[in-house]
Amino acid sequence: MKKVIDLRSDTLTLPPKEMLETILTAKLGDDVWREDPTVQELEALAAKKLGKQAGLLVTSGTQGNLVSEMTHLNKGEGIILEEESHIYLYEAGGIASIVGALPYLIKGENGLMDVKDIEAILSRPYNVHFADPKLVCIENTHNRGGGRVIPKSNMDEIAKMAHEYDVPVHIDGARLFNASVALNISPAKLVEHADSIQICLSKGLACPIGSIIVGTEEFIEKARKNRKRVGGGMRQAGVIAAPGIYALTHMIDRLKEDHKHAKMIEKVLKEKEDIIVKPVDTNIVIIDLSKSEWSAETLSKELEKQGILVTQMGTKLIRFVTHFNINREDIENVIKTISEVF
Ligand SMILES: Cc1ncc(COP(=O)(O)O)c(C=O)c1O
Repeated sequence: MKKVIDLRSDTLTLPPKEMLETILTAKLGDDVWREDPTVQELEALAAKKLGKQAGLLVTSGTQGNLVSEMTHLNKGEGIILEEESHIYLYEAGGIASIVGALPYLIKGENGLMDVKDIEAILSRPYNVHFADPKLVCIENTHNRGGGRVIPKSNMDEIAKMAHEYDVPVHIDGARLFNASVALNISPAKLVEHADSIQICLSKGLACPIGSIIVGTEEFIEKARKNRKRVGGGMRQAGVIAAPGIYALTHMIDRLKEDHKHAKMIEKVLKEKEDIIVKPVDTNIVIIDLSKSEWSAETLSKELEKQGILVTQMGTKLIRFVTHFNINREDIENVIKTISEVF
């Protein structure tokens, strides 16, 4: 039977056998009681990799962002974020319903925010009418921006300016390792001026579950309580942490492969006159069909008939994501199909 090539998301990655085997020998304990050595090892490893004092295992990227926001913000305060960010669009309104924060939206260019737009909000003199902006979020890489890498210079500039106003910076780094691999900069260097970072184990790194947040010891201590509040205190969570340790030690460098594969897809798509391809920096390729006869629905159905699954990101937007379970042969098949179908 022909293999279905599933390019809908890197969240679909299935873990390698060696990763799953780490669970069988992991030392376990009750992590709410702080007695799971494997969780502690993972949290320390993640903190070290990201150059921060401490880490905290959480269930998902959404929970990591939520807990970080709860820790940075009080109800009624403002959060500055890009208008197409995952936190704003795809986290079920947690910033409103749970954190109680007012979003100040910045119009980015494929996810890249101009520091001046952020400063325009932060520099407003105190006024009783305003929600005080108390957190800036950056998404790196940026999902709807087509996996765009936010350059270190932009992150540093934003952090420097935010800190001048005593406002911390949180990074939604669901795919931060894709950014660091693409930039050839260590993850710790990339986020050196950020205050908290959320990274996902369950996307390109192929873990079945889990994210980690990192920051100062004080931040993580408060975050631990917020994680408990939202039901994220876990017991023998070493079964999640053991694959996480495997991921952080074995799965980061190979992201380069996914990036190469995305570039190959980009190349064939760019040959089509009526299709706009967002610049490809990492493992995500987004095409805009607004100049084409195809709608996202008709084209994705046609690709599905040929055994290729993609995601519709809007009526005229389609996303292809390369990942661990997609090999060179799959990419060659995708290229062949794209050449033939449209
Ligand atoms: C940029 C970004 N942030 C956060 C998340 C949330 O992660 P999770 O699905 O683990 O909640 C995602 C998920 O796709 C994402 O793409």
